[in-house]
Amino acid sequence: MTRTLTLLGIESSCDDTAAAVVRAGKEVEVLSSVVLGQTSLHEAYGGVVPEIAARAHAERLDGVVEEALAASGMGLDQIDGIAVTAGPGLIGGVLSGVMLARGLAAATGKPLVAVNHLAGHALTPRLTDGIGFPYLMLLVSGGHCQFLLVEGVDRFRRLGGTIDDAPGEAFDKTAKLLALPQPGGPSVEAEAALGDGKRFPFPRPLLDREGCDMSFSGLKTALLRARDALVAEKGGITVRDRRDLCAGFQAAVADVLAIKTTRALELCEARPTALCVAGGVAANQVIRGRLVAVAERAGVPFLAPPLRLCTDNAAMIAWAGIERLRAGLETPPGFVARPRWPLDETAPALLGSGKKGAKA
Ligand code: KG4
Ligand code: ZN
Repeated sequence: MTRTLTLLGIESSCDDTAAAVVRAGKEVEVLSSVVLGQTSLHEAYGGVVPEIAARAHAERLDGVVEEALAASGMGLDQIDGIAVTAGPGLIGGVLSGVMLARGLAAATGKPLVAVNHLAGHALTPRLTDGIGFPYLMLLVSGGHCQFLLVEGVDRFRRLGGTIDDAPGEAFDKTAKLLALPQPGGPSVEAEAALGDGKRFPFPRPLLDREGCDMSFSGLKTALLRARDALVAEKGGITVRDRRDLCAGFQAAVADVLAIKTTRALELCEARPTALCVAGGVAANQVIRGRLVAVAERAGVPFLAPPLRLCTDNAAMIAWAGIERLRAGLETPPGFVARPRWPLDETAPALLGSGKKGAKA
């Protein structure tokens, strides 16, 4: 029989201060999940400012943890352990979370579990749907873009990823270039729905390169050039132009993701139990539709956890902690917070570091 485990999870690696309580017995329940975003604090700077993020986490973590415990109806004495994101991410924020978790563990005598943030995302389909290994996970957000073959609680193979920007970042930059509101994803998607995706044939980078690495920074430059050419030609861009630019951009991102996902599925030696997606970009209906079609063609089920669990949150950290405890994986007492921490230590390092920190 599986022992019921209840963990407190803490996440502070980027611009969300989060805490959650997850209980796993025969069923898994997210008893509470509190996420306090920092968008307004960073808005004026066009990206996450690490020092501002770190200070905000330090100031808010206590309150967020208290709120998560209160909402779960559990006291610290009733939980079985504390899981905390120990990287990768903006180091100031990660340290704030790790220090608080260390303090709580020392004060209560409960085990402390260090969790890789990416493992949290990657293991979420098991929290929501209990799927078995191996499965393919496409992580697409403002900070990450990679294909992970999840073979076990602690066994991940990175099949490929972006070599520069993450797609969410490209959506945000596109919105900025076209004076649309942030976050860019939803506003670019809404404009694109009214535009003609064929008018601006933007590049589909790296399709000629084998494997499933991707690149999105050239796309933003192509969009900038197209916008500037319109401005030079007629002194500005019309509503129609803007919609067509958004549609052309989104079509290019969707094409690249669909084609590279097909390749990633082909690279899986054993048949995956599912194609899973996580991250804010997975909310995009056009991109999602393309991925659903790719999975269907490959005869693999498609799985997208609810958005609140596939964007940054602490329930995924608590769950990853439960998985690690159940698998008997130990956290060394002297573990350190890591700004970079690739899940697959054997894969070559990805280049670049996005506006939300290291892509690991
Ligand atoms: O996973 P997430 O909430 O957070 C981090 O990246 O940390 O992802 C946010 C990203 C933003 O860049 C946002 O523009 C993008 O996801 N996004 C979208 C959509 N909704 C959010 N991108 C494309 N289409 C959308 N509908
Ligand atoms: Zn994340």
